[in-house]
Amino acid sequence: MIRAPARRVSLLPESSPAIVRDLLTQGYETFRQIDDGSVASYIPELGHANPAHFGACVVSVDGQCFEVGDCDVEFTIQSISKPFVYAMALTEHGRVKVCQRVGVEPSGDAFNSIVLDQKTNRPFNAMVNAGAIGAASLIPGASVAERSETQLAVFSAAAGRRLRIDDKVYQSESETGHRNRAIAWLMKNCGSIDGDVDEILSLYFQQCSILVTTRDLAMMGATLANMGINPVTGQDVFEMAAIQDVLSVMFTCGMYDFSGEWAFRVGVPAKSGVSGGILGVVNRQLGIATYSPKIDNRGNSVRGVRLFTFLSEELGLHAFNFMNHGSHFLKNMINT
Ligand code: DON
Repeated sequence: MIRAPARRVSLLPESSPAIVRDLLTQGYETFRQIDDGSVASYIPELGHANPAHFGACVVSVDGQCFEVGDCDVEFTIQSISKPFVYAMALTEHGRVKVCQRVGVEPSGDAFNSIVLDQKTNRPFNAMVNAGAIGAASLIPGASVAERSETQLAVFSAAAGRRLRIDDKVYQSESETGHRNRAIAWLMKNCGSIDGDVDEILSLYFQQCSILVTTRDLAMMGATLANMGINPVTGQDVFEMAAIQDVLSVMFTCGMYDFSGEWAFRVGVPAKSGVSGGILGVVNRQLGIATYSPKIDNRGNSVRGVRLFTFLSEELGLHAFNFMNHGSHFLKNMINT
């Protein structure tokens, strides 16, 4: 299989590091004034987050890191774990088997909807809770502890440092996650998950409780952008073939019932989490992360959505922006 080199020649023009830095600062100063939204508290421990925290970080596929604000503050990854566990399931089992279990259609519903695709009994996609529980059920291991360690090791490799689980948040969600229990038991009833439901839920709650910083998230995004290889450590984390599938589903489903609007305005595969993080991936170029705990009624960070929209417009990051003018493969074909 052809793999990408660990580090590539910078895709950013020489002047652009300064431009990225300036835009991050400008966006940070502008959007930190926004105070809309509220900190999620349906998982009681999440309610303790500091609503003033705000950080943004960009990591390029050649390992350059640009950051502003509170990029060292740890928070639980929550739903931003979903694309990574989906990538793990695809890497482990391949597209055919995973697609038999989890679909690739946007649901247009809230992230925690208790609904399956009526024609197939599958969850709509891996970015909503049902699909994420389905993807978690595909992580191999002899026990929950072993499977959780497998997840943690892969997340750590993508971030380039050892991560850990926030036990208080895990306990808090475990004690209150009745809606996710309902989703998992519905899936068990429909034959869309195998195995012990309580163990699968425990694994899902643990993956949501992994602590990351904004910088970790941007590095994890850069690992996806860099075809599965961490751009700083050079570690090969995900199967290259899985990346296309993960980014496709992030693009169409990653921002829940805001996904269409996000694809239209921002145009970058992304995933949000209720703790206030947003991760975006600019294919073959950048991982971008923002953190600000106040979220809107769809579960997306208010400041994060504004900052991503700003960066996408200013840097021409939209997948269909005129600056994206074709792959090297096509250019070579046309030139020969
Ligand atoms: O399943 C839950 O409720 C959380 N552990 C994850 C939710 C989440 O982050 C969805 N995001 N917008």
